Amino acid sequence: MADTTQAAVLPRTPRFVQLHHEDRAAVRDELIRGLLAPAAFTSPKYLYDALGSRLFDAITELPEYYPTRTEAAIFAAHAPAMAAQLPSGATLVDLGAGNGEKAARLFEALQPRRYVAVDISVDYLRHALAGRQRQFPALDMVGVGMDFSQSLALPAEAFRDGFSGSGDGAPRVLFYPGSSIGNFAPAEALAFLRQAHAACAQGGAGGGLLIGVDLVKPARILEPAYDDALGVTAAFNRNLLSHINRLTGADFRLADWRHVAFYNAAESRIEMHLEAREPLAVCWPGAASVQERRFAAGERIHTENSYKWQAADFDALLRAAGFRNTRVWTDAAGWFAVFWARS
Ligand code: AVJ
Repeated sequence: MADTTQAAVLPRTPRFVQLHHEDRAAVRDELIRGLLAPAAFTSPKYLYDALGSRLFDAITELPEYYPTRTEAAIFAAHAPAMAAQLPSGATLVDLGAGNGEKAARLFEALQPRRYVAVDISVDYLRHALAGRQRQFPALDMVGVGMDFSQSLALPAEAFRDGFSGSGDGAPRVLFYPGSSIGNFAPAEALAFLRQAHAACAQGGAGGGLLIGVDLVKPARILEPAYDDALGVTAAFNRNLLSHINRLTGADFRLADWRHVAFYNAAESRIEMHLEAREPLAVCWPGAASVQERRFAAGERIHTENSYKWQAADFDALLRAAGFRNTRVWTDAAGWFAVFWARS
């Protein structure tokens, strides 16, 4: 953001890197394996087709869904304290950037030298980053299309000035807001944080991870956040079935399925399921013949876990992943936490 004069002469345009295209056959096989398992399950990533993403945006506006607005209030209240801890002139890496709105709110305090937006859909990023670039014409922007849920191997191009040249040596600030980490079971979360630590350590000194984490709280607050009165979360969950129908050729009827969400205190997680209202069979075209999965009345498909953390346990997890000098900011009620963990 420093070189506004250069930008006035030569307006910047975002660069894009698409790491891999999801193989349609692999997606189909993965989904069918989950549907045929004795306890049927699907990955939460399939909740986000075009309509699912819009339904999720609507969820974030619901009165019962406290995480988004609580996290935003923490960032608003503690921006100066955060800016004092974080390096300036960093490369800000936005994991699951979406429309980039949350990261853009940090630009002023952080003064990053580059913004790297990472999301599954590079097509969506093209649109979103074009708009952000008009808002911040002098900031170097890179869009990376990749699914980082399995491996966080960020492309080297994202840390160079232009597509060629060597690494810029800037500190890396990885930004992972929204308690997206909650979709990982604790062992997976640790593995992910280790990769995040390695990615930060490849940049200059002072880098780290800025991450939003939803905290343990009474079920009477947690459960309505995932089973709202308006039925938006139920629609978000059931919409998964129409996405699966498109991806596999299955014949799920959405009206046959009930949204179920509850807090599993022993596992410290919200679970979302879809429950068959009556005995039914779901069919899809197989290699040789039609395949089917029968469901008894009340039988469920497990569609999402959303883990809740004690702040002290998450701090220990960050340290186990190699981070040092952690800082945490929370809201007055202690519902949500934002951690800054230095690599
Ligand atoms: C995007 C994973 C953070 O777990 O709160 C919201 C997803 N599912 N309502 C969450 C979600 C149902 C959300 N995360």
